Amino acid sequence: MVGGGAREHTLVWKLAESPKVKEIYAAPGNAGTARLAQNLDIKSEDIGALLKFARDNRVELTVVGPEAPLAAGIVDLFLANRLHIFGASQAATEIESSKVFAKELMQRHGIPCAASASFADFAQAREYVQRQKPPVVIKADGLAAGKGVIIAESIEDAEKALSSMMEGRSFGAAGEKVVIEEYLHGREVSFFVFTDGRTVVPTVPACDYKRIHDGNRGPNTGGMGSFSPPPFFNPALGHIIGQTIMEPTVLALADEGRSYKGVLYGGLMITNHVPKVIEFNARFGDPEAQVVLPRLRTDLVDIMLAVIDGRLEQMNIEWSEEACVGVVMASGGYPGTYRTGFPVSGLEDVDAEVMVFHAGTRVSPEGQIMTAGGRVLTVAATGRDLAEAREKVYRNISRIRFEGCQYRKDIADIK
Ligand code: AMP
Ligand code: GLY
Repeated sequence: MVGGGAREHTLVWKLAESPKVKEIYAAPGNAGTARLAQNLDIKSEDIGALLKFARDNRVELTVVGPEAPLAAGIVDLFLANRLHIFGASQAATEIESSKVFAKELMQRHGIPCAASASFADFAQAREYVQRQKPPVVIKADGLAAGKGVIIAESIEDAEKALSSMMEGRSFGAAGEKVVIEEYLHGREVSFFVFTDGRTVVPTVPACDYKRIHDGNRGPNTGGMGSFSPPPFFNPALGHIIGQTIMEPTVLALADEGRSYKGVLYGGLMITNHVPKVIEFNARFGDPEAQVVLPRLRTDLVDIMLAVIDGRLEQMNIEWSEEACVGVVMASGGYPGTYRTGFPVSGLEDVDAEVMVFHAGTRVSPEGQIMTAGGRVLTVAATGRDLAEAREKVYRNISRIRFEGCQYRKDIADIK
């Protein structure tokens, strides 16, 4: 397992359920994966060291959680060395790593998305933005850890954002090119599919919460909570998303010689019942994976091997009808500066049916679990409906403590 967040802990937990799995390594993992796997002191971007480890230890299946190693070409490297790996190739990952590529692909193939234009020249970008009606959405082209998107409420703010990205390099090289797009109103949903490049099989939809504070206030984060399924979702909408977005995108990538294998993540806005793409990602979402994977009934190893071998058509993937809610516990100060190294207490007081997925945690030499990152834990539970799952999470989350801990109180609080 490549990665060290709560998404990766969830994947390790799910993989460990498979009778096919004998031993798991996590690189670098966290205190949660350490219970199910052997953590390795290898960073998830160090694809050379990962290759060496996988070869030396005859690893039979490698699963990639985050985007950085995919964008660095880990899948191509492993395949060239005849190793089994679950994830998208470098060329296919451009659907996430270059917003300009993703937009142009959608435009070439008629996939519904926000109207937009791409620019490498500041003067031209400014001229375009001056002709738009606010709000205007400005996106850095490259990977910016979820922070490269600015929603400008006025043309003046839009010009400032362009200037800081393109002239001030506020996102480094990621902002050399920008996409300027129309603001989509509606409900946002994260829609994941498994695909082997031909067959596309949906998972269950989820919603996440990007802002730090209750009521969707404050700065954006990596994600503060999630739930599945969204109450506004129905099978007809899922069908439309498959037919108009996910399947055409997989076919488009195959047509352009970038066959996509793995999990494709559609970040969608449902605008007047019409789904449109906000962005694609080449992996599971975090914290969405923490509420999607607990609903999976089918052996995840079987699914991954079918994806790798191009046999997904033969798989029957089953999901539980239950709802799942996940709430992220973060360090005080996150997503700004925060301190780490505080002991986490109360983990043993959590009800057995409640899942605690670790992100920024480590085990001290004395065996104590310590905070080690911005997002520390995702506490998740399933229930007959969202209300029941939510109640279980919040009843348990207050038993877990660390200095400065913050979490949102309104996750899945749907009126
Ligand atoms: P992204 O990194 O592209 O997912 O953008 C981050 C967040 O900005 C999204 O999850 C949306 O909430 C918001 N966003 C991005 N693009 C748009 C858009 N065209 N219209 C409305 N909201 C958007
Ligand atoms: N939850 C948003 C992401 O994983 O990109």
